[in-house]
Formats: sequence, C-alpha cells, structure tokens
Amino acid sequence: MSDAAPAAPAETIVLTGGTGFLGSVVLERLLVTTEEPIVLLVRAADDAAAAARLRGLAVATWGDADVLPSRVTALAADLELPDLGRTDGALDALAARTATVVHCAASVRFDLSLEDARRVNVGGTRQMVALAARARELGAPGRLVHVSTAYVHGRTNVLAREHGPEQAPVHRNTYEQTKLEAEHETRALTDGVAIVRPSIVVGDAVTGWTSSFNVIYVPLKAAARGLLTVVPGPADAWLDLVPVDQVAEVVAALVRRPELDGVFQAVAGEEAPRLQPFADVVCEVLGIPPAACEPAAAEQLGLYAPYADVASPFELGRARELGVRPVPVAELVPRLLAFAETAGWGRRPQPRAVAWTATPAVG
Ligand SMILES: NC(=O)c1ccc[n+]([C@@H]2O[C@H](COP(=O)([O-])OP(=O)(O)OC[C@H]3O[C@@H](n4cnc5c(N)ncnc54)[C@H](OP(=O)(O)O)[C@@H]3O)[C@@H](O)[C@H]2O)c1
Repeated sequence: MSDAAPAAPAETIVLTGGTGFLGSVVLERLLVTTEEPIVLLVRAADDAAAAARLRGLAVATWGDADVLPSRVTALAADLELPDLGRTDGALDALAARTATVVHCAASVRFDLSLEDARRVNVGGTRQMVALAARARELGAPGRLVHVSTAYVHGRTNVLAREHGPEQAPVHRNTYEQTKLEAEHETRALTDGVAIVRPSIVVGDAVTGWTSSFNVIYVPLKAAARGLLTVVPGPADAWLDLVPVDQVAEVVAALVRRPELDGVFQAVAGEEAPRLQPFADVVCEVLGIPPAACEPAAAEQLGLYAPYADVASPFELGRARELGVRPVPVAELVPRLLAFAETAGWGRRPQPRAVAWTATPAVG
C-alpha cells in the first residue's frame, strides 16, 4: 500500500472571460448552481494582480469586494501568450484537477485585423483545448464548454441550424470568421465538448442589467436621445436578442450536465422580432413618434450595420430546455431601456444583486 495522500478529486471549474460581461454572469450562475472550486484565468501581471482583478470584479458587479466565497480564485493567464504566459507548472497543476473548462473569453471587436482576431479567438481556444486535453491525460474529466456566437453562420438566407453551417459561410467581419475557426479548434477533442452560440446578448431578462453597451445599445441610445429619426435597416430584418442571464444559465447547465455534447444556440430563434415591430415598441416606450425603417440609413450604425439586415432566423433547439425562454419585446424593451437610463448608458455602472447566498439549486 502507498502512503501517499489520495489525490484531490478533479472537480475544479476553470473559467476564462470571467471579468467580461457574459463571463461575470456565468460566474454568478455557477456560484448559484454548483459547489465546486472555480478558478478564473485572468489577464494580469501575476497571481496577486489576478486576485486583485477578481476583487475589482466583485465590487463592480456585486458591489462588495468580499462577496465571493473562498472557492473562487484567480490565476494570471493571457490567452495570447504561449502557455498562457505561465512557465511555473501552474497549468499542469490546474489541469490535474480540472473537471470543466468554460471558455468564455474572446475579443468581441468587429474591427480587428484577421491576424489579431485569430491570435486571441483562435489561439486562445487552442490553448483551452490543450488544457482540457492535458486534464484528460492526467486522469481528470477535462470537459470543454466553449462560448461561440450564432453569427458563425455569417450571412445566410436560410434557417441557421444548430448542426450548421453546412457550407463555407460568408462572414461579415473577422470576429465571425475567427469564432467559427475557434469552433473548429475544439474538434481536436472529439468528445466532451459543448458549444454555446448566443445571438446578440442584451441585459438581464428581469432587471435589464448589463455592463456592456455595444451593438443594439448604440441605436437604442441614439433613439433615446432623439437622434434617430429613421430606423437604420430593412423592416423585415430579424433582430435576435437573448438576455445575458439566459445565456449564462445555458452555460452553467452544460457544466452541471456533462453528458450533453454538441451545439446549443442560445437565441430567440423564430420568436425573434423583425426590425420594424421592434422599433415600434422602442418608440412607444420612449414616447417618441414612430420611425420608419430605412435600409439605406444602416451605415449610420457603422461597425454594427450588418446586424441590422439579418435575412433569416437562427434555430432555437436544445438550448430551450436548458433555460432559453424568448421574452416578448413588449416586456424586454422597457426593462432594457429603463436600466440603460439608470446606468447612464454605461457612465454609471450598476452592481447586480447578490444571488448566491441562498441554498444552491443544483440540478
Ligand atoms: N456580447 C455579445 O453580444 C455576444 C454575442 C455572442 C457571443 N458572445 C461571446 O460571448 C463571450 C463573452 O463576450 P462578452 O460580450 O462578455 O465580451 P467582453 O465583455 O468583452 O469580455 C471578454 C472577456 O474576455 C477576456 N479576454 C479577452 N482577451 C483575453 C486574453 N488575451 N487573455 C485572457 N482573457 C482575455 C476579457 O478579459 P479582460 O477583462 O482582461 O479584458 C474579458 O473577460 C465571447 O466568447 C463572445 O464571442 C458575445
């Protein structure tokens, strides 16, 4: 018999992108619905600086530096550096206890060069695939839950299905292209991989909370300031919005249910609104005169213009049973606008309520 102490169970959840908009809510859902250790991989000069960023995240997101339980820790790691910038064996030690890697980090900029977008989105995913593979070599589960985007489908005129895209898509920008390339990186694992594809992630379905005011918030703010006299895009364009809490719950559910592999599109699907009816609700809520859709005005949206002329819906399939419940725009829009005004459209960030002090609902 060996005198060696038994190895600690490999039950750690590794999270990238936890300091970001979606990742912070994923962390919250994991705190509510799991009890295992969570290690955030955070860009920072060293582990002490990573821990300081974690405390900063807690203050910004939940209003209290001490709110996170001790099972949440941070390691300094940069997805764009070889071996995440670690030369100290920390990655092997982490891999040996990794049950699941949740890869949420990416650059969501639409204007990066292909080289820059590939370095973070494709190269970063390759490193998370390698971490999961190393975990398996060391006898840990090493499952991967990878956050992608529904826009890997690019421009299409047909229903964008979970099992697609079947043909080489026409992408709008380097973001979409590199997010599809990142999905392809995950194939190196052959199994034990779930991919979550959100559409446009907006504020919380109930509170409207968000920490990110890009994409749809750009024209919404212009409308709220009386600067948008026409709606920039075709009247029948699909506008697929999904609340951040619903996407986070899909991700957390896939952590709790390792038997589920494959693609999960976290989207409103065929229940998503078209642009004109959506704009009508916005104008009504804002108490401004209705505005007509004008496709030629889409260039006002700059980088976001391509998202105002989406010609076909996404398929909402297996994510429905994991927590996606399309919210009617008449309910969602007032909540998004009210929160955005409270938060000064990003100038006065608001913390979320702390949700995980109640008994965890693990299921
Ligand atoms: N927001 C949406 O509408 C939307 C829609 C579909 C899919 N998604 C996907 O959802 C995920 C999260 O998006 P988000 O909106 O939450 O983005 P975000 O707020 O910009 O957060 C991005 C996160 O990635 C981290 N990150 C970026 N580069 C990194 C690097 N080199 N090393 C380590 N970490 C790095 C950031 O860390 P720092 O704090 O250090 O910057 C941050 O935590 C992404 O995979 C995105 O493609 C988002």
